[in-house]
Amino acid sequence: MPNTVIIGAQWGDEGKGKVIDIFAPKADYIVRYQGGNNAGHTVVIGKDKFVLHLIPSGILHKGKICVIGNGVVVDPKALLEEIGMLEAKGIKVDGRFFISHQAHIIFPYHRRLDELKEGMKKKIGTTKKGIGPCYSDKVARAGIRVIDLLNSVVFKEKLKNNLKEKNAILAKIYNAEGYSFEALYREYSDYAGKIKKYACDTTLLLNDAIKKSKRILFEGAQGTLLDVDHGTYPFVTSSNATAGGASTGTGVGPTKIDKVIGIVKAYTTRVGEGPFPTEFEQDLLDRIREKGGEFGATTGRPRRCGWFDSVIVKHSVMVNGIDEIVLTKLDVLDGLEVLKICTAYKYEGRIYKNFPSDIKVLSGLEPIYEETPGWKTDTANITSYSKLPRNAKLYLKKIQKLLETRIVLISVGSERRQTFSSE
Ligand code: IMP
Repeated sequence: MPNTVIIGAQWGDEGKGKVIDIFAPKADYIVRYQGGNNAGHTVVIGKDKFVLHLIPSGILHKGKICVIGNGVVVDPKALLEEIGMLEAKGIKVDGRFFISHQAHIIFPYHRRLDELKEGMKKKIGTTKKGIGPCYSDKVARAGIRVIDLLNSVVFKEKLKNNLKEKNAILAKIYNAEGYSFEALYREYSDYAGKIKKYACDTTLLLNDAIKKSKRILFEGAQGTLLDVDHGTYPFVTSSNATAGGASTGTGVGPTKIDKVIGIVKAYTTRVGEGPFPTEFEQDLLDRIREKGGEFGATTGRPRRCGWFDSVIVKHSVMVNGIDEIVLTKLDVLDGLEVLKICTAYKYEGRIYKNFPSDIKVLSGLEPIYEETPGWKTDTANITSYSKLPRNAKLYLKKIQKLLETRIVLISVGSERRQTFSSE
């Protein structure tokens, strides 16, 4: 397997966890490069269901090395809980899990600021895990990294400086209580002691691995339309969820990455606020949400659902340089009389065939649809492309044509066996 990036091509929750689990056996290293425990990657193995928020889903495969790169923001409490959960299920982490010295640490004040901001009128609908405030500190050059946490002198000074500022903001802007230095210092020094054995220079680790011809799988979190640069800004997450993030978020140069696979859901979903051009009306929403189990893996929030939007996925194909597509959750569309595919947008008399970055346009547009007949057959037990109903094949062909990109794998359920190639 060439060094491959797997990204979500919509607003996240496309089924990356399952797809990464399928590709993991062919990789030597599985690496997260952005986001934090706002992600929720679900993998179903037999009767066991694993939801991983931070550690790459590749950890479920024996002998694979899993890495949290510098571009990830890490809540050490959540990380240690996840390690505990895996070990309780008999999955050994020691010796095959590494975390970058340069990854930034999430503190309780980040979570608190996230919550307080979300309590205001203009909210984003975040996961309230402190992701945005932590990335803000990183970019403002005030953040505390794993390497800083491991040095008590540096950590003390940085924490003191941060608390001075954060406590003033909490008190003066939000009229909220601040944090005691002593308590936080103690709590996080304890975490430092526990995560020390996993921390290293992961940039060196990965580049050395590439020199030895090891194969790397880069596990994107969230999705392209949630990317801070290429998404529906400001209704996005605070990192680069697109393929470019794999390079900056790991220190592996773009010339060392060979392939980008886009994960595309057969319809569209989004969690949180922000424009969603093809969003369903209530009756269809209830039906698809129920059938697709469209509830957030991290927050449990019901996901918004809508028709397939080829304008946003075409945008994804472009900004990620997607080579191949894995199409997921096709079975959720079983039994619909007619399916709609959005092929363009109309706003104030103008037709948009490309993704408009103006939030006003995105919020006020009218989608232009192409209709295609549905199918009655249950596809969840289908094991090969040739057995798919004719209209399901037609639907896939139409999507493939609009995206000008090959669909290589099709998924019709959460289990590993419910996947087949498009050949
Ligand atoms: P944040 O990442 O918690 O700051 O949330 C920003 C936006 O990204 C919100 O709309 C969240 O619902 C969304 N988001 C964050 N992580 C995920 C994810 O893993 N799947 C889907 N949406 C997400």
